[in-house]
Amino acid sequence: MQIDGDMMENKWNQFYKKSYSDRLRLIAQSAGLSEDQLKLIKQNADDKSGELIENSLTDYRLPEGIVTGLVVNGHQHLVPMVTEEPSVIAAASNGAKLLSAGTGITSVVSQKLISGQVIIKNAKFEVVSDFVSSNRHKILELADHSHPTILKYGGGAKKVLVRKLSAQFTSVDLFVDTGEAMGANIINTMLEAIANWISEQLAVETTMAILSNFADEAVVQVSGKVPVDKLASKSVAGSVAAQRIADASEVAQLDIKRAATHNKGIMNGVDAAVMAFGNDWRAVESAVHSYAAQTGTYKGVSTWHVHGNQLEGKMILPLPIGFVGGASKVLDMVAVNKQIAQIHNVKEEMQVIGAVGLAQNLAALKALVTDGIQKGHMNLQLKSLALSNGATTQELPTVVDQLRKSSNPDSTAVKDILKTIRR
Ligand code: MEV
Repeated sequence: MQIDGDMMENKWNQFYKKSYSDRLRLIAQSAGLSEDQLKLIKQNADDKSGELIENSLTDYRLPEGIVTGLVVNGHQHLVPMVTEEPSVIAAASNGAKLLSAGTGITSVVSQKLISGQVIIKNAKFEVVSDFVSSNRHKILELADHSHPTILKYGGGAKKVLVRKLSAQFTSVDLFVDTGEAMGANIINTMLEAIANWISEQLAVETTMAILSNFADEAVVQVSGKVPVDKLASKSVAGSVAAQRIADASEVAQLDIKRAATHNKGIMNGVDAAVMAFGNDWRAVESAVHSYAAQTGTYKGVSTWHVHGNQLEGKMILPLPIGFVGGASKVLDMVAVNKQIAQIHNVKEEMQVIGAVGLAQNLAALKALVTDGIQKGHMNLQLKSLALSNGATTQELPTVVDQLRKSSNPDSTAVKDILKTIRR
């Protein structure tokens, strides 16, 4: 877009105040959108989304699929997942099936405390620390009174700690049981209330008061076992595959390069389910990666070990999410997805999402240490290649079949195949 006189006159000023059709017209003019493109935008637009965000244009659609075969704490769950990545859902279902061949997945949430911090500048640490120690009860009470509805739901401010960050900065950390909500608004309201009070009482400057996405007191502990013979592939014996999976998880403890990819594989499943349930996946990503780096060295968040004829996986995953609030009421599919998954509260939601993460991790590691990742992905990748180069869903089976036989399955190959079959 050129910054010209027209732009300077500023037709984009107060864009958010314009009607939907005026916004659309301006965008279409400036980007030169075709009639078909405009039709696509309008077709997917939803009034509710316009209320959720500013300058709303349309709903951006992503595929949603279902993971099958996941047994969590003795219950079968179908888990909706929203993802654009081919093979994520197939892999999760595969991992779920392997883990259900053992005793299924055990997934435990013992508490969900979300924390936040008030940062104080240029105050003596000892002064702040003494003040908080002698006013602990008052601070918790103040926090609860700033958001009294939280008490009705059985939650509330639970503890307050003080940490020295440097000679200049001190952090007052507040921990809140946010009940069924993720609780970002609740906790931010509480923090602002206590920041004002502390700053008045101590005559100190508070730099900010904000929720922390480091969520080490809102974790799900997931574990599962697979009989090693279930891990056999055509070329690799089950016991060998099991040892290699354990090795792979050890490498993710040793090496940041591998740990980042190991965790990305887990997040393939976690994010997709977090999105399906209408939660803030950036908060979860930030929580998981900071948790993975909490010792100062970034590590894989899951580990796998061989015990006799069983491969056992364990993972602790912070999941700062909610079952109510946020976008969950506005996005229509969220309620449907919770019903499909048969989850009824935030703990079950965390347990199921954690289980998906472990299943996803197992499937990825198994593929990596046996056939390699490309083989299992090939079919879906060829489909994606064909679709992105213009194949219709009717043409897809023929195109994929011919691509599989091709020595160089790339976009040129798709275009050549399409030319031939369309002729
Ligand atoms: C790809 O999206 C995810 C994997 O790279 C995960 C892993 O390497 O563990 C397959």
